[in-house]
Amino acid sequence: MEERPHVLIVDDDTDTLTWLREILSKEGYEVGTAPDGKAALDHMRNRTPDLVMSDIHMPGLDGMGLLAELRNCYRDIPVILITAYGSLKTTVDSLRSGAFDYLSKPFIVDDIRLAVRRALEHKQLARRNQALREQGRNRYHFDHLVGVSPGIVSVYKSIARVAHTDSTVLLQGESGTGKELIARALHANSTRSTGPFVAVDGGSLAETLLESELFGHERGSFTGAIAMKKGLLEKAHLGTCLLDEIADLSPALQSKLLRVIQEREIRRVGSTTPMTVDVRIIAASKKDLASLVKSGAFREDLFYRLNVITINIPPLRERAEDISLLTQYFIQMYGGTKSPPVTGIVPEAMALLTRYTWPGNIRELEHAVERAIALTPHMVICPEDLPQAVQTAIVQSFTVQATPQTRHWGTLAELEKDHILHVLGAHNQDLERASEILGIHRKTLRRKLRHFGFPC
Ligand SMILES: Nc1ncnc2c1ncn2[C@@H]1O[C@H](COP(=O)(O)OP(=O)(O)OP(=O)(O)O)[C@@H](O)[C@H]1O
Ligand SMILES: [Mg+2]
Repeated sequence: MEERPHVLIVDDDTDTLTWLREILSKEGYEVGTAPDGKAALDHMRNRTPDLVMSDIHMPGLDGMGLLAELRNCYRDIPVILITAYGSLKTTVDSLRSGAFDYLSKPFIVDDIRLAVRRALEHKQLARRNQALREQGRNRYHFDHLVGVSPGIVSVYKSIARVAHTDSTVLLQGESGTGKELIARALHANSTRSTGPFVAVDGGSLAETLLESELFGHERGSFTGAIAMKKGLLEKAHLGTCLLDEIADLSPALQSKLLRVIQEREIRRVGSTTPMTVDVRIIAASKKDLASLVKSGAFREDLFYRLNVITINIPPLRERAEDISLLTQYFIQMYGGTKSPPVTGIVPEAMALLTRYTWPGNIRELEHAVERAIALTPHMVICPEDLPQAVQTAIVQSFTVQATPQTRHWGTLAELEKDHILHVLGAHNQDLERASEILGIHRKTLRRKLRHFGFPC
């Protein structure tokens, strides 16, 4: 049998305690009580509750003090604060300090039931997401790869399928979609994982320098070559070499690279003796290589050599349901650098994040969260902490930015899907809440999601 959720109620007023205990026990929860914040913390040494409901005004450690302690030490426990009716400022402050919700006195019984149910569901969902992540990680060691959308799950599957082969892999995806991270995951899951992983950026250096970077050079092979230097391909021997921004390679380097892939041999600049290297090549490009081949900017034979297995990484706007997970991941990653730590984000700010289209993809989201954490005076990220472009995303989507002829207007079906995913993303994939907001039955929402290809 599943264990009953444990709710801890904290209030110095015994009448309220008794009354709340009765209501929540009837709902099937196991209820504990404490007369103040300090007693609540003592209680938690023996039993960690699934939810804390606390009054704000109490002698000793009050509700806000308790909330701060909990955010510090028990990040996963949702807290519902009980505020006096009409004190809007306290309410806002409590949410900003990381409370999940608040209830105003005098209570409405249905509000209490709903708030408690929602908070517990939220916690369960957060736990499930965490479990999904761990599962993915344990199975394939996808360290640092976050996301449960169909788009990214199919990337995980491709990684799992091709990691231990020695095939050349082409990663295609917009800037900031995680190409390098995925290349590293391929390497980490391959038989070469104990060998080196070397990344070369095809767009970063002038042609001659890049050639000597890639292939190395012999002493005296050109002015300035005062000593022999090993190339990156040679350094990647028995490991993996990521050729990033492959589309930027000059035609001459493209043909040299083709030879390396065909013959598995390299020759240092200034040398006539070829050397055998055992390197797995992963190429990455944000430009579509197939169209560059068509326009003659990229060698067709090299394209076919690289294109043995292609993994297409979807842009973030096509997997909006990953935004809340990624945001929480980045908050966990950067939130602790502040004192007091930043532990969450208010729903309004999350809604803005899920609405924005992220042209810079995950890197842009990561920077936005990192910046918001640095800027916020609170323990949670608020809308005003986000970049201007993100804050105005909603306004933008309703104003015409291009001429009516060039703008992509979107079909009704596209808009519907977009809106549903945004609402879900902004409410932690809570189907019940989302169906309430969307004004449709939960079954209808499930049907639509299945139609979009989500397993539910
Ligand atoms: N699925 C993911 N989960 C968590 N973090 C991610 C994920 N994908 C990307 N990131 C993070 O986003 C940032 C950008 O990723 P990465 O550098 O791999 O992208 P890229 O596609 O190589 O970008 P560019 O084309 O600009 O080189 C990195 O900090 C990376 O850790
Ligand atoms: Mg990159």
